[in-house]
Amino acid sequence: MSTPSISTSIRNSLEELAISDKASGIKAKFSVDLDRVDRFSFDFGQFYMDLSKTHISQELLSIYLKFANEIDFVAKRESLLAGERINNSEDRSVLHTLLRDISNQGISMSDDDVLAQAKASKAQFVDQYHQIQQQLSKREHAIKDIIHVGIGGSSLGTQLVFEALKDLNSSIKVHFIGNIDAHQLVDVLSQCELANTLVIGVSKTFTTAETLQNLDSIADWFKAGGVNNPLAHFYAVTAAPSKAHDYGIPSNNIVSFPTWVGGRYSVWSSVSLSAALVIGIEKFEEFLSGAAALDKHFYTQSPETNGCFLAAMLDHYYVNFLCVKSRAIFAYDFRLRSLVDYLQQLETESNGKDRQRNGDPVDQQTSPVVWGGVGTDVQHSVFQMLHQGTSLIPSEFILVRDPDHDLVEHHKELLANGLAQTAALLEGQDKAQIDSIHAQDGLTDLAKRAKIFSGDRPSTTILLDRLTPKALGALLAFYEHRTFCFGVFANINSYDQMGVELGKRLATQVKPLLDPVKPIQDSEQTQKSAEGFDPSTLSLLSKVGSS
Ligand code: F6P
Repeated sequence: MSTPSISTSIRNSLEELAISDKASGIKAKFSVDLDRVDRFSFDFGQFYMDLSKTHISQELLSIYLKFANEIDFVAKRESLLAGERINNSEDRSVLHTLLRDISNQGISMSDDDVLAQAKASKAQFVDQYHQIQQQLSKREHAIKDIIHVGIGGSSLGTQLVFEALKDLNSSIKVHFIGNIDAHQLVDVLSQCELANTLVIGVSKTFTTAETLQNLDSIADWFKAGGVNNPLAHFYAVTAAPSKAHDYGIPSNNIVSFPTWVGGRYSVWSSVSLSAALVIGIEKFEEFLSGAAALDKHFYTQSPETNGCFLAAMLDHYYVNFLCVKSRAIFAYDFRLRSLVDYLQQLETESNGKDRQRNGDPVDQQTSPVVWGGVGTDVQHSVFQMLHQGTSLIPSEFILVRDPDHDLVEHHKELLANGLAQTAALLEGQDKAQIDSIHAQDGLTDLAKRAKIFSGDRPSTTILLDRLTPKALGALLAFYEHRTFCFGVFANINSYDQMGVELGKRLATQVKPLLDPVKPIQDSEQTQKSAEGFDPSTLSLLSKVGSS
């Protein structure tokens, strides 16, 4: 029997509320709750969030406030802030927030070592940034391309920061190589010239197979171009400096960060060196300060006025009581095209868990599938399902009021579309409206019925005044804290990622079996490695391995 993570009385109240929410929908809430928009909207300074077009209500909030009391939510938030080892399976603190503000709003951190590490890591990052900038300014050939080699948390955030904050006409390109699939690498190398290219290998562990293989192949490319000891020119960013050194990167070119910075929480660290080299360290500092301001909101506001708590409350209510399986995020700004990939890792790697903190199986739903894309492109692909599909998919619209280009008409159209979608999702369109629109044109009844939109589909709107470094920092910190809150509601450890291990281990077993000169049935050795695989995998192996 696993430990119940939600008391029966909270579960019953939420089940009852869900029955009434399913029956009445969201539109009806606006007519009974006249100041709904004001009550359920939040101004975080750097952005504004409107939750009123969701199932949020005073009743829902009251139940979650009781739930928060029962599970000691505030004490758990304190533990995060205080640097307790809340990543219990790996026995680690979760302190990436220290990197955005070392004083961290009065953190009750007793461990001086941790503060010293945070300071040293920041100083080394800034120092290395300046050294590289200096070296680059002295080079005979200006750097035009940076190849950032890293995967998952060692690249997704950096790529987002680079794309979102670089000047539109920036002369340096950063290429992000993560995948082991060399089609990507070959393509990138074909765009770069050896003399103008800087390589930065980024890996928290410096053991990740894809990253090491890609670095090896880039080193070979340098050798083929006449550079004798390419690794001497590469940089590494890692929490395992000795591993980077053993790999061959000179100590002076290694920038380290502390192990208490999780991979998917490492955008605030020197992992973002390549992006910082392009956008400038000043903008990067602003990015950090935007996040620190959001931290303050999260740590100081009580749950009922805490935007992160309330957004997570809805996420949790939707997956557990309104049968929601996925949440969609649509950024109406091309510069945020990597946001969904970033948030997908943040939320699903953090909260896609089936064990409670004590190791018991979970007794509730955990992370929904997180997906999405960029508006208005998505309107012409997946929005059909959003409006008329059979699943309830809460969606998030991220809009930026002021663009950084002069094509005003484009931007008006972009914003109009984003706003119109949220209105359409809420309002829908009934048969009477369709009859009146098509009163004169003889549209068939069949076609009219196909045009019915049920409405009552939840959406959240997040509005940034401009896509500044501060606003981006605040936005990402908001999602981090929302992810934390969800993990507390679900009673899971949001900071490990054991679910990625098994596949990695099996890949090392599978790889030798793919050797075409040793067909599977031919050697005792391969037969031994093949043992334990299921018949389907064995059959596929024989097809791939015999090519
Ligand atoms: O395999 C998952 C993972 O460990 C992620 O959590 C991490 O961000 C990524 O791989 C890269 O790991 P590293 O930074 O150690 O190369």
